[in-house]
Amino acid sequence: MKSNHRISRRSVFKTGLLAVGGYFLSASLFSKVWAACTRTERQSEGPFFPVNEQSDVNQDLTTVHGVEGQASGQVIYVQGKVMDASCQPIAGAEVIVWQADIKGRYKHPGDAEANELIPQFQYWGRIITETDGSYWFKTIMPAAYGSFFSKRTPHIHFKVLVDGKERLVSQMYFEGQELNQKDSLYRYLSKEGQRQSTIRFQSVAASSERQVGALEGTFDMYV
Ligand SMILES: [Fe+2]
Repeated sequence: MKSNHRISRRSVFKTGLLAVGGYFLSASLFSKVWAACTRTERQSEGPFFPVNEQSDVNQDLTTVHGVEGQASGQVIYVQGKVMDASCQPIAGAEVIVWQADIKGRYKHPGDAEANELIPQFQYWGRIITETDGSYWFKTIMPAAYGSFFSKRTPHIHFKVLVDGKERLVSQMYFEGQELNQKDSLYRYLSKEGQRQSTIRFQSVAASSERQVGALEGTFDMYV
């Protein structure tokens, strides 16, 4: 009985150690996974979500079917993945993007901006994610817009739908823009939200098939 008692105490001790070790290991793994998959912060849809259909809604916003030429401005490629909160890619998600042109105007009846629309610019597009959750689109760097007192820093709007249901509305920003820290919506984001949504753009690789002189950046979204 004495011996059994000792073994029992030892085994309880060992089990305890394993349990404590297991807890810290799983907590550590959990925190790593959790940190990597923090949901992208939701942001205002703003007043200019596209309301009118257009014949061309593909992933190249720098041209419009049937219109000659390319919209002027800095060409950029935005790429990334749509994933869920467990970091799993979501295939077949619908990503709607919309933005201002190089003069700060949206293609929306509510935009009072006096500048004419640019015929070569597509203004918004709709992309379906691949089986690995990836998406990309080509566009022109948007301009800042708004009044002196409430100027919006350059940004691109995103809406993600999965199985037709809205999962995220957000905005993507450009690293190094002076106006970022003066933009009230940008400042409203948490520090982590700013980090996730502020994208560094760099020149496309010379070996790439992408347009020479273009910039590219990656914006992953966790929905
Ligand atoms: Fe906007």
